[in-house]
Amino acid sequence: MTNSETKATLSFSDGTPSVDFPIYKGTVGPDVIDIRKLYAGTGKFTYDPGFMSTAACNSTITYIDGDKGELLYRGYPIEQLAVNCDFLETCYLLLNGELPDTTQNKKFSDTVTKHTMVHEQMQFFFRGFRRDAHPMAVLVGTVGALSSFYHDSLDITDPHHREVSAIRLIAKLPTLVAMAYKYNVGQPFVYPRNDLSYSANFMRMMFSTPCEEYKSNDVLVRALDRILILHADHEQNASTSTVRLAGSSGANPFACIAAGIACLWGPAHGGANEAALNMLKEIGTVDKIPEFIKQVKDKNSGVKLMGFGHRVYKNFDPRAKLMRETCYEVLEELGLQDDPLFKLAMALEKIALEDEYFVSRKLYPNVDFYSGIVQSALGIPVSLFTGIFAMARTVGWIAQWNEMISDPEQKIGRPRQLYIGSPSRNVKPLAERG
Ligand code: SDX
Repeated sequence: MTNSETKATLSFSDGTPSVDFPIYKGTVGPDVIDIRKLYAGTGKFTYDPGFMSTAACNSTITYIDGDKGELLYRGYPIEQLAVNCDFLETCYLLLNGELPDTTQNKKFSDTVTKHTMVHEQMQFFFRGFRRDAHPMAVLVGTVGALSSFYHDSLDITDPHHREVSAIRLIAKLPTLVAMAYKYNVGQPFVYPRNDLSYSANFMRMMFSTPCEEYKSNDVLVRALDRILILHADHEQNASTSTVRLAGSSGANPFACIAAGIACLWGPAHGGANEAALNMLKEIGTVDKIPEFIKQVKDKNSGVKLMGFGHRVYKNFDPRAKLMRETCYEVLEELGLQDDPLFKLAMALEKIALEDEYFVSRKLYPNVDFYSGIVQSALGIPVSLFTGIFAMARTVGWIAQWNEMISDPEQKIGRPRQLYIGSPSRNVKPLAERG
């Protein structure tokens, strides 16, 4: 972060003295105006609901250019990482800032593998849930419960403790997501295996049963691994901001990640892949698309084109292109090229991309539009799509949390407000209130 020669001057039309603010430049992307002294200098707050124009922190982890459709993890384009690396290499990069060499990669992979089991007591948390509980409710509960196993042995000011927490979370999320699935379908939990890769281990914990040998499909494992890479981090999105805000109070990382999972569940955020697939099922056939689009354009309908639009990307989400490629690969491997949902999605995408309503609002397919179709083809139930997203985003959340906790300037996050409620007034005792 470097000081710009330019400064920002805030002047007022009522003669209040103007105030100057420093401007900082990043490596790339918009400059920022440091308004930390605004309230002390003017007695006023800024007003930015939804943080449309607010940088909440500085970060070295992920950069997005919404106009160019660019996404960099530690400076590496997502298109290159998705082709040249696997998910654990990407985890190493997000956590440490550099891609691992062969020795570092082996050590990191072995360390994560050795933390994939959860405490045997964890299985009893599942029994409190109904079998048909939404997996995200189960994950919020069980990941939060991990706090109880490590809270006392966790000093978040100790970099080694933070590193071990990051490894534990990255390693145990697949186990907990698979356990949530097995609990839901009434099958026995499957223990992780140390001779399998991260994604192969997850697929086996999800789909193997004690009744027969499970043979994993390398194309499908690679597809899942790519889904995890594409969802690993995404700057200061709603759930990452939730993790940072929770972490700013000094809460332990397991509780912070549980808060991130809760936020990701929302259909406007990580729940969009589940919502997008349900939307495709609701439309049903290509000839029903025009009627649906008409509903979307009717503001009173409250109907949105799920999997379209993005707060930052006002061009194609680069992850959506890669996800579409993965879609083709998986459907071809499974002989589902004529999958009706995929055909419907392609038709809907074509129509939306040619429709002035969406073009004028810069609404393009985002990562969630195709990820649901791929996950459906992999045999993952719709209700678990966001759980997979949470499994992938855990590394991004914990890398951002770690960056915040290790920042000497870090303070507890405490936004202010514009109060528009009642002025001060006196309480009347009940008897006098009639
Ligand atoms: C993720 O932040 C991240 O980085 C998130 C994420 C990540 O990796 O962490 O990328 C993951 O959350 C992707 C987004 C998944 N959500 C969806 O697909 C749900 C559908 N999309 C929308 O709900 C919406 O697009 C948002 C929430 C994603 C963005 O909301 P904004 O920023 O408030 O949308 P906008 O201001 O750009 O909208 C501009 C206009 C508005 O209409 P007008 O008031 O101008 O008439 O477009 C409309 C919006 O109503 N609009 C849509 C729409 N999205 C925006 N209209 C129909 N369908 C949509 N999907």
